[in-house]
Amino acid sequence: MTAPDSSSPQPDNPQPLGYPGFPLQPADPYKGAAHAMAAVFTLTLPVLIGVIVLLKPDPLAPRGMMHTGGAVAGAQVAAGGAPVAGGGSSAGPQTPAEVGRTVYEKSCVVCHGPDAKGIMNLGKPLRNSAFVQSKTDDELFTLVVNGRPPEDPANTTGAAMPPRGAQNLSDEQIRAVIAFLRSIQDPSAPPASVDAWNLKSEDGTTQAASIELPDHPGHDIFIASCSACHGADAAGLPNLGLPLTTSGFVRGKTDKELINFIKSGRPSWDAANTTGVDMPPKGGNPAITDEQLQQIVTYIRALQKKALGS
Ligand code: HEC
Ligand code: HEC
Repeated sequence: MTAPDSSSPQPDNPQPLGYPGFPLQPADPYKGAAHAMAAVFTLTLPVLIGVIVLLKPDPLAPRGMMHTGGAVAGAQVAAGGAPVAGGGSSAGPQTPAEVGRTVYEKSCVVCHGPDAKGIMNLGKPLRNSAFVQSKTDDELFTLVVNGRPPEDPANTTGAAMPPRGAQNLSDEQIRAVIAFLRSIQDPSAPPASVDAWNLKSEDGTTQAASIELPDHPGHDIFIASCSACHGADAAGLPNLGLPLTTSGFVRGKTDKELINFIKSGRPSWDAANTTGVDMPPKGGNPAITDEQLQQIVTYIRALQKKALGS
């Protein structure tokens, strides 16, 4: 009797619109909120995607920088890449040459000097080094790994270049320091003279040392243009210019032939080249006149005469 009569009309509870059990009530108080949520979603999603796209590494950024990404790397590359002077930017990823500069400053600077111009009677110049420029990365790698002890025939100082810079450097650090060495070469500048480092006289190539004829008219121009590779005494330098004092090539040519040879040089790709090192036209000094070349040739002949005692 008191059971509620479900069928009795209830003015406060209007007839449901949906299926039985799933009433859709037009007056749903959450409907507005749901719409707002949907709106928030539809608006935030594109914004989120946009932000993600913007934060992604720029696909146009230089390759090597991709994995590290970011504006700093891009700025460094834009600023000129490898040779970064006066390091100290600890923020952001570094190029191999920058990593190599740090290795250099820790391991090589004591002997090769802060500006890599060499320290007298110790490490040779590495900036604008004809030796560095004439070697492949792999050859330089082998040299730095093994060093160059005084008993090595290529050693001209009598001082040791220690294996791995005496610091137990990893292969990776050595590769980096080589990238740094590359970054401090300016092939358009004359190579740094290594004369002051060529003190050792025990080995054959520098044995005939110290024949100089300073009063000869060809002396000064030879020193200025040829000695960097051939030595002040024209006895040759390891891995650079061949000995001229003992050269059969020089003896077998007329003055005119020699002058023509010096004018054209002998590039490393020339079949007659035996060292793999370029002999540049006029020794890289285009200002030399024919008259000066004649003086140089006469000077070399005078040195030969003295060296060979004939
Ligand atoms: C303890 C001193 C010392 C240290 C440290 C040292 N070097 Fe040397 N390095 C020398 C000497 C000495 C020579 C020259 C040996 C010779 O030919 O008589 C040399 C030669 C070289 C050469 C050949 C240059 C040429 O013209 O023949 C290269 C390249 C070189 N060093 C690179 C390095 C690098 C890179 C480091 C650091 C990882 C380093 N050296 C650390 C002493 C040193
Ligand atoms: C940048 C280094 C460099 C300079 C500077 C240079 N030479 Fe050479 N020169 C070489 C090299 C390397 C060779 C050996 C090339 C080869 O492998 O055959 C050579 C070879 C020669 C030869 C031939 C020697 C032989 O027996 O085959 C003569 C002669 C010569 N140079 C003269 C000169 C004169 C003179 C000058 C100065 C005007 C000069 N060079 C400056 C690097 C140089």
